[in-house]
Amino acid sequence: MRFIGNKEALSAKIYALLQKHQVMNHTNNQIFFDMFAGSASIGRFFKAKGLQVYSCDMLYFSFCLQRAYLQNNQIPTFEGLSNIIESSQILPHSLFSNETSPYQKVLSFLNTLPSTKGFIFHNYAPSGSKNLPQPRMYFSDTNAGKIDSIRAQIETWRQKQVISENEYFILLATLIESVSLFANVAGVYAAFCKSWDKRALKDFKLKEIEILCSNKEHFCFCGDSLEVLNNFTQTFDILYLDPPYNHRQYAPNYHLIETIAKYDNPKIKGVAGLREWQHQKSTFCNAKTALASLEQIASSKKYKTLVLSYNSEGIMQKEEINAILKPLGKVAFESFTYPRFKSNAKKGDKYIKEYVWIVQVS
Ligand SMILES: C[S@@+](CC[C@H](N)C(=O)[O-])C[C@H]1O[C@@H](n2cnc3c(N)ncnc32)[C@H](O)[C@@H]1O
Repeated sequence: MRFIGNKEALSAKIYALLQKHQVMNHTNNQIFFDMFAGSASIGRFFKAKGLQVYSCDMLYFSFCLQRAYLQNNQIPTFEGLSNIIESSQILPHSLFSNETSPYQKVLSFLNTLPSTKGFIFHNYAPSGSKNLPQPRMYFSDTNAGKIDSIRAQIETWRQKQVISENEYFILLATLIESVSLFANVAGVYAAFCKSWDKRALKDFKLKEIEILCSNKEHFCFCGDSLEVLNNFTQTFDILYLDPPYNHRQYAPNYHLIETIAKYDNPKIKGVAGLREWQHQKSTFCNAKTALASLEQIASSKKYKTLVLSYNSEGIMQKEEINAILKPLGKVAFESFTYPRFKSNAKKGDKYIKEYVWIVQVS
């Protein structure tokens, strides 16, 4: 998904660095904890490599992605929905060819639901929010209504227990991933575009996500990683840290995805219709508290190898990070150049330097 700091394009590079520094063993039979999971891209990569993955993020929509991509280990059968879908009058029968998986059939069904006027329509589409001084243009009227009907249907299925918990999170993750393909934003959700991007004018459709199965059990958490780590008595082979690197908090920048994931009719305010997010403030978005939090994780002794991804524009300085990590073991430092996140591109160079620290406890 479009997400600041998404490491999808960098995961192979990070893996190669871990190989270079002999962190990976031959069987990949290791436990990897992605403490700032975001889009779950790093977890997916290491799950596919055969590792056991733990992951955490304070945002609930990230947790939904983690549950679907990491903790789930089954191709969904949607057994509880076979009657509902196959008896539906809305669908043309051609959609039910033998080649179509149950998951695709469920998405086809959801894609044909008529638009309804729910929370997203009333607050984030121009007609629904027309009484505001500046009506919100996050989604077209029809697409906002589609998102409402799909989200409500997923919840109803779960309440009636006709879909399993894994199937529930697979459908939520599918909706979350798809929404970002139709949102009228420049990258993040702190503001909407004042004219329609062509992406937002297309008819909303759910796009299948990749289901990844492995023979390991994986565990996902929603909350402050520092607290979650405190609750473990075990040691992780690899503790991977990819914290925010500047003052920009993630919660307000992705408030709308969080609301679609939770669908909890929150009180919202301001031009952008922000939900309350103070409880999701990250200490990594302030230089002083970031260093203190890094020190807390680094001194936890709950890892054999600590890997920190950061970059040249981060609010913690390289020397300050070195001072925390150096006393802990053998420290390797790597850096490479890569293209900046799109919505930040106008702010300077098109490229940015990625930093990776690898700390191996002796
Ligand atoms: C740079 S992004 C991670 C990107 C991720 N590696 C990916 O590939 O998508 C930082 C993430 O850390 C999360 N975060 C910030 N502080 C946190 C904390 N104290 N505990 C858990 N998650 C936190 C943010 O919500 C955000 O998703």
